[in-house]
This record gives sequence, C-alpha cells and structure tokens, in this order.
Amino acid sequence: MKVTVFGSYNIDKVYNMPRLPEKGETLYCTGYEIHVGGKGLNQALAFSKAGAQVVAAGKVGKDGNYLTDYLEKNGVDTSAIDFSGEFTGHTIIEIDPEGQNQMILFGGANREITPEYCDTLLSQHRDSELLLMQYETSCVEYMLEKAHGMGIKTALNPSPYVDEIKNIPFEFVDLLILNEYEGESITGKSDPEEIAKALYNLGPSQIILTLGGKGAVYYDGGEPVFCPAFNVKAVDTTGAGDTFTGYCLYDMLSGVFPYEAMRKGCAASAIEVTKPGAAETIPSGSEVEEFLRNNG
Ligand code: RIB
Repeated sequence: MKVTVFGSYNIDKVYNMPRLPEKGETLYCTGYEIHVGGKGLNQALAFSKAGAQVVAAGKVGKDGNYLTDYLEKNGVDTSAIDFSGEFTGHTIIEIDPEGQNQMILFGGANREITPEYCDTLLSQHRDSELLLMQYETSCVEYMLEKAHGMGIKTALNPSPYVDEIKNIPFEFVDLLILNEYEGESITGKSDPEEIAKALYNLGPSQIILTLGGKGAVYYDGGEPVFCPAFNVKAVDTTGAGDTFTGYCLYDMLSGVFPYEAMRKGCAASAIEVTKPGAAETIPSGSEVEEFLRNNG
C-alpha cells in the first residue's frame, strides 16, 4: 500500500515544566530536549510503522536533514521533500507533570509550499492509494482540490484548529479525521455523534472523531460506531493523535472494519503517550499487536 503524507516537518523543542505558565509569568523549566516532530513527520512515521510504503512530502530548510535522516532510517521515502525553505519549522512544547502540553508553532518552510510544488508532487505520486494532509502547511486547500480532481483519495486531519479551517472545501475530502475540540470548533456542536453527523453533511464520506481518553467515533451515514480508549497513565500526549491517525488509517485502507481500525489506533496511541516525546515514541507494529493481545 503506497500513501503520500503531505505535511509539516518540525524540530520539537520540548520543555518539562512544574506547571504550565500563566500569562506574563516567567518559570524555570525542569528539563529540555530536542526531538523530531511535525504532524506530517509523525503521521508519515506512524503510517510506515503500521506497514505502508510512505512517501513524505513537504518543505524544510537546509537544516532539515535532521528530520529527513530520521524518516529514512525508519523506512520512509523522503525524496519528495523540498530543502529550499529559509528555516525549518519548529515547535516549542511545554509539558506539565500530568503530561498535558501547550505549544508555539513556527511554521517556517512548512508555510512556503507553493501550488507548483503540489502539482509536481501529485503528478509524480498519483498512484498513491491515499493522500493524507494536516493543517500546518500552506496550500492545503489547493492540494485537496487538485488531488480530488485527479481521482486521488484524500484524508484530512484539520489540525491544529484555526478559524480558516471553516473555509476548507470539505467536499474534496474523502476521509476526515480530527479530535473533539476541532470537531466542536468547526460545527458548533458538542455531542460527539452530532459533531460527526454535522461534519458528514459538509461532504466527507467518512468521519473519524477522536475523543482523547474516551476513545473514538466513526460515522459514514449509517449507525455511528464507538470504540473506547485503553486506560493508561499518560506522561506526554504529544503525537498521540498522529499515532492514532497513521495506525487507524492503515487498517481502514486495508479493508479492516472501522471498530477494529480505531481499536488499533487507540492501542498505538495508548503506548505512545506512556513515554516522553512524539515521533520517537510511536510504537512498532509488533508492539501494538502485543499490546492488543495483552489488553484484549
Ligand atoms: O501533533 C504533534 C506535533 O504538533 C508536534 O510534533 C509538533 O511539531 C506539532 O506539529
């Protein structure tokens, strides 16, 4: 199965905090680490670990080798990544002792992507079974419309939520995967099933709504399918949604029933949140299978 993940490539600067700071407050952190990250990188990696042949697409700066080397070592094809960006994107991530985080995103090269880049990518990889995108790059709307016009199946994770997301041409999205906060912000609804139905009415034929520690809901116009989460002690939730996305969508594309696919996604993200970091803590396929055997 070949998939293209068009998205962001960030250097994650992670600060462990005694608590998250208030407005105007200065706090010392208790630890600092640098990790590979970005929703595009994390989702490409998760999809690859789940078993797909992944083409990573997007843009970095000259220092982007740190990110692409990591992907290559993990079996992801990075030949479509453009290195001509001014600065590679980075994220400042603050994490409290309960594993909750807040982030500052510097888009950098991720926001310099042009329609010309999208055209070239699509013409070279139109044989992909899926084009997966998030909302940390420029040209998402352009890419959606073009890919849809070429008959390429599209999946969108409209994250992180910003108001422009409401203007996305959702009719060009085949599968929409997002969290409860994003779903609420787009639809104005608060009940998960109502959110999923309202999103479905915008155009996508499949909706997967993740509910954090509660699990996930799938909706395609029939009966909604709910899958509960696994109960684990979270240390760092960064990258949990990306891990879920890669694993769940791999199974969905493989023809697995939505409940089982969401269960796989929940298992993978349950493992991921028990360790500090994002990309580096995405589990392997065999770890996920073992977790499922032990938590059946
Ligand atoms: O979803 C987690 C990711 O969001 C982090 O790796 C960070 O870079 C931001 O893109």
